[in-house]
Amino acid sequence: MSQESHFDDIIDRRGHYSDKWGKYPSHVIPMWVADMDFDAPPCVKEALQQRVDDGVFGYTYAPKSLVQAIQQHCQSHYQWQPASAHFIHLPGLVCALHLCVRALSEANDRIIVPSPVYYHLTKAPEMSDRKLDRIPFVLKGNRWSVDLVSLEESCKKDDASMLLLCNPHNPGATVYTREELQAIHALAKRYNLYVVSDEIHCDLILSDATHIPFASLNEDAAQRTVTLMAPSKTFNIAGLGYAFAIIANSQLRQRFNKARAGLTPAPNLLALVAAEAAYTKGQAWHAELLEYLRNNCTYIRQRIAGTKIQMAKHEATYLAWLDLRAYQIDKPHDFFLKAGVGISDGEGFGAAGFIRLNFGCPRSQLEQAMNRILIALDSLS
Ligand SMILES: Cc1ncc(COP(=O)(O)O)c(C=O)c1O
Repeated sequence: MSQESHFDDIIDRRGHYSDKWGKYPSHVIPMWVADMDFDAPPCVKEALQQRVDDGVFGYTYAPKSLVQAIQQHCQSHYQWQPASAHFIHLPGLVCALHLCVRALSEANDRIIVPSPVYYHLTKAPEMSDRKLDRIPFVLKGNRWSVDLVSLEESCKKDDASMLLLCNPHNPGATVYTREELQAIHALAKRYNLYVVSDEIHCDLILSDATHIPFASLNEDAAQRTVTLMAPSKTFNIAGLGYAFAIIANSQLRQRFNKARAGLTPAPNLLALVAAEAAYTKGQAWHAELLEYLRNNCTYIRQRIAGTKIQMAKHEATYLAWLDLRAYQIDKPHDFFLKAGVGISDGEGFGAAGFIRLNFGCPRSQLEQAMNRILIALDSLS
């Protein structure tokens, strides 16, 4: 990559209350939690600045204009038209995952989750005393996807009641195809399961794949699905706290709203302002971001060529899923921390021997991290 990009700029996030940068001592390069070391889009900063200049921060509500901006986004990106009445505004997506399990299933129900997966999808059933069936994500060719035979085995069980999907999948970087989603939907319909579809990474597609919201498949899917989305990953505004659920089925919506009443606060004013600006004016920034991330992903692939690290097809997210099992490292997190890189250990997602590397950062930072990782691995041989 020869052309300069503003995404190359190094931003010192230490002392900024950053989870990512506050976790480790200063000599460590943090490449773990899913936010990016980039400035928010200028349109977001301008909108926030204006609102801060207003200087009034009273109680607030999600305005119609925000919902319209999201609807417009859904229409232009996924040819999907969720109705305004089906939106629920939330301070984050994780609380929605836990709420869905608690509100839409009963104690001891079986919840099915393709795994390894972002840990809140498995934590939500575990914390609510539900049974958890982890369905293996397997390599099909060079691409991770759910094993449909195991999925059906689980769906068949009498106490199975809900399927938690992560699409695009974190970690594993898979974007489910229409055929895969249709096969999953056929099982959900046959065995009468609700589907909670965490689609937070849906606007971070780095390949020629297309994101298809599960609820957009057909009317039956719409009626049994809770869709969870947010601008937080796409526009790097996770610290502001805003996500939304789309629930077409009025009974499910009522149950979800009853369970959250008085417990989940409304999203804060600045989060709403940022979201609206991002969805209405952030397209050019977003396109540049995807280009930068694609190049970073290619760079990782170039650096690991000739090593024993395996990386399957990477379709979406800025989180590389690296298979290091050939190195037989006992505790990858501690091993790489010693080398000066803070990675996410695959074990936390349910896959020992893997690591997840966040490449949403300036290229020079990624280069340094890759140097340290490869030197540490070299020292093993
Ligand atoms: C799949 C997935 N869902 C949810 C979240 C977090 O959502 P929120 O910050 O809105 O609670 C993440 C963050 O990494 C994620 O990867």
